[in-house]
Amino acid sequence: MKSYALTKVSLCLFILILAGACNKSIQEGMGPIGKQGMVVTAHPEATNIGLSILRQGGNAVDAAVAVEFALAVCYPAAGNIAGGGFFVIRTSAKKVYTLDYREKAPLSATRDMYLGPDGQVVKGLSTQTILASGVPGTVDGMVKAHEKLGSLTWTAVIQPAIDLAKKGFPITRRQAADLNSIKKSILERNSWKPVFVKDSLWKEGDLLVQPELAATLERIRDQKRDGFYTGQTADYIVGQMQEYGGLITYKDLQDYQSAWREPIKGTYRNYEYFSIAPPSSGGVALKQLLGIISKFDIKSSGHNTVESIHYMVEAEKRVYADRAEYLGDPTFVSVPVEKLTDEKYLLKRASEIKPNKATPSDSVRAGSVGKSESLETTHFSIADRWGNAVSATTTLNGGYGNQIVVKGGGFFLNNEMDDFSSKPGTPNVYGLIGNEANAIEPGKRMLSCMTPTLVTKNGRLFMVVGSPGGSTIITSVFQTMLNVIDHGMTMQQAVTAKRFHHQWLPDLIQYEPSAIDTVSVSRLLGMGQHLKKIGNIGRVDAILIWPDGTMEGGADPRGDDTAKGF
Ligand code: DON
Repeated sequence: MKSYALTKVSLCLFILILAGACNKSIQEGMGPIGKQGMVVTAHPEATNIGLSILRQGGNAVDAAVAVEFALAVCYPAAGNIAGGGFFVIRTSAKKVYTLDYREKAPLSATRDMYLGPDGQVVKGLSTQTILASGVPGTVDGMVKAHEKLGSLTWTAVIQPAIDLAKKGFPITRRQAADLNSIKKSILERNSWKPVFVKDSLWKEGDLLVQPELAATLERIRDQKRDGFYTGQTADYIVGQMQEYGGLITYKDLQDYQSAWREPIKGTYRNYEYFSIAPPSSGGVALKQLLGIISKFDIKSSGHNTVESIHYMVEAEKRVYADRAEYLGDPTFVSVPVEKLTDEKYLLKRASEIKPNKATPSDSVRAGSVGKSESLETTHFSIADRWGNAVSATTTLNGGYGNQIVVKGGGFFLNNEMDDFSSKPGTPNVYGLIGNEANAIEPGKRMLSCMTPTLVTKNGRLFMVVGSPGGSTIITSVFQTMLNVIDHGMTMQQAVTAKRFHHQWLPDLIQYEPSAIDTVSVSRLLGMGQHLKKIGNIGRVDAILIWPDGTMEGGADPRGDDTAKGF
């Protein structure tokens, strides 16, 4: 009788747990919910376009290509056709593809091109001038992604962006402030007055109409990659290079090819994840961080407690030291990915961490394995009803790239060359130090931090996640994953939660206001950590997929980011 009662109780409990796991219900703190598809991007116009592609029966890749072009129109700070990025794609057949459409150094780039006669880095040369631009990868990337995995026509995925550029869209309050703040530099860096400059000040709701960009997109619609890398658009780009003393030639444009690469794969607790391989450091660094942190009990330590912060930043110091030493374009340097992510190596790195005492960054070295300003990248996450998903991060590097607009073409050029190490040991705009592995060479891809990532559980899609934020991208993705996996947050809570960041050098825990309470700040100081309160860290747009297929979008409230599902 007794045992029967116990069995009955256990059975009920089991059913309750099962019901909880399978039929998660809508709770407070959740983002928008969708059953058929979810799109999360940095701008409402791009989210709407992505969603309309899914509603028409397009898959996640169709929507991602449409969103990439839409962002080039409605989010010109980072959306682009003359920049680059990375896609991590998972298909309904559970196959994962990663696409690298990162920019490349022009063929006439040289190792010391940003150094002055005194051998020092000339300030602004790799960020604010025509010399800052790498050979763009976005258009080739979109063509390749669509040809391999898209299902709608090319015209169907690009036309919404053309219409948006022609008709215009109302800019947001943030965009108005942004465009007003760069008016002076746009006028200084361009020999004419691009459409992004208004005589009076921009206001929220003003229409931004871009006829030249619409015409460029029409050439891309009609001729695919040739509409950008040859013909009229190439004439505009090369013409601009010749007028301003830039390096990109017709040959650079014609030679550009995006590349399918093997993902970086790993497991954390019972979850598998897939992220991007070099030339981004994102996947390797994320795998190192998750590998080191799995040796500690972050779940019991709790979210943003002294203990968790300490272990996480100690891991970050070591991972960013390795990044500076070993990571670069694998076509040019041999990157010891296996050794850097080897379980024994990560255990050794974890064992160097002392429980109550900071290791000063100047005594952290890369392990032995045998051999801030306007920051604007953008991440978007898309999932469809069939189980396809795209995690995509794309950028011009700085806000509006080098703020030089291609005359006739109507689009901003990137300043991605700053992601190379201009001089070993001299920090770039994100304070990142690099070395030989990331030195400039003709045709080489500059090292990135972009970390578009997909997480699965028991072979099922679980999360689509990524962020902009330069050096803070990796740690923003890392924290968002831990927030869900270890701290049980909803997608929206995980995205909204306050963040902190350490990148080895400078030796500082940078944190968002109220990310760390004052008592914890004092305790961390007492342990030898250094801290600095800064503004926003990262802007994560992510999707959580429940066991029954329901999708929860998490759009970052730090920007105009918007999640919509249906
Ligand atoms: O590839 C990289 O790591 C940088 N170019 C990303 C720049 C960035 O995230 C700026 N954003 N907020």
